[in-house]
Amino acid sequence: MKIAVLYGGVSGEREVSLSSGKGIIEALKKNGHDVQGIDFHPERLDEIIKLDVDLVFIGLHGKFGEDGRIQGLLDMLDIPYVGSGVLASSLAMSKSKAKESFAAAGIPVAKSEMFHVDTEEQQKEAISNLTDNWQPPFVIKPNREGSTLGLTIIKDIEQLKEAVEYAASSDTEILAEDFIAGRELTVPVLGKRGRERALPVIEIIPKNELYDYESKYAPGGSEHIVPAEVEKQLFEQIQNYAVKAHQALGCETYSRVDFLLTPEGKPYILEVNTLPGMTPTSLFPDAARAEGISYEDMIEQFVRLTAE
Ligand code: DAL
Ligand code: MG
Repeated sequence: MKIAVLYGGVSGEREVSLSSGKGIIEALKKNGHDVQGIDFHPERLDEIIKLDVDLVFIGLHGKFGEDGRIQGLLDMLDIPYVGSGVLASSLAMSKSKAKESFAAAGIPVAKSEMFHVDTEEQQKEAISNLTDNWQPPFVIKPNREGSTLGLTIIKDIEQLKEAVEYAASSDTEILAEDFIAGRELTVPVLGKRGRERALPVIEIIPKNELYDYESKYAPGGSEHIVPAEVEKQLFEQIQNYAVKAHQALGCETYSRVDFLLTPEGKPYILEVNTLPGMTPTSLFPDAARAEGISYEDMIEQFVRLTAE
């Protein structure tokens, strides 16, 4: 097949996407496809408009790539693409909107509150509201960002101003969320619409205190335990929640659903990643490998699920 791979992009996760894109392009070539890689930039839209391919594989993460905008453009051009459509992508990108859908589907979510921080005035209002109504520890993060960028755990209210400014530097919406000191779990979901299945639950043991950008992408930055050592019934419940979350947002073909598990054994959903990392240290490929599916076969499954 003639496949264009969009990678790189202009979001905070550009470096991650350069690495995902490289892996995807190599795998598609090994699988015998005619591959064209495009380091995506809005200024290169004319190249996308002129594309003559059977399929686009979106290897982008974050803003413009994972939030439904590029998907909308490809819809208008009538070019099929791998992964979720416009609505699911933008819903998943907004953690606050996604959490409303998860809660409505009966999946436990941590308490949270979204604030608009377009202006300095609004930032000040958010800080004053948070100071009055939220007790540390809690988390401040951009509402629409990935890879833990812009996130602070507020342990002391003194940290709040800097944390709000930091989160606001990457998004005009920020989220305050209850801090859950729990185990970090994630579940890849794969399949045709309505017939999705969960791959094994993975536990992540970060080397740093937090599963932050460095732990995510530095080689040896975290250890992945697949399958996670969690009691069978809970393991299956988390897998069920993952498929339910994927379906609640209307995701397609594949996604990866992140959870925190409290010491009491209660899982809380964090988010759905509609274009999860495909780098050498990424989680989805690790879970696939644990099922005997190589990286190349996993990529081929995504293509087949889209093309068939
Ligand atoms: N946002 C990154 C790419 C992930 O979830 O894997
Ligand atoms: Mg993410």
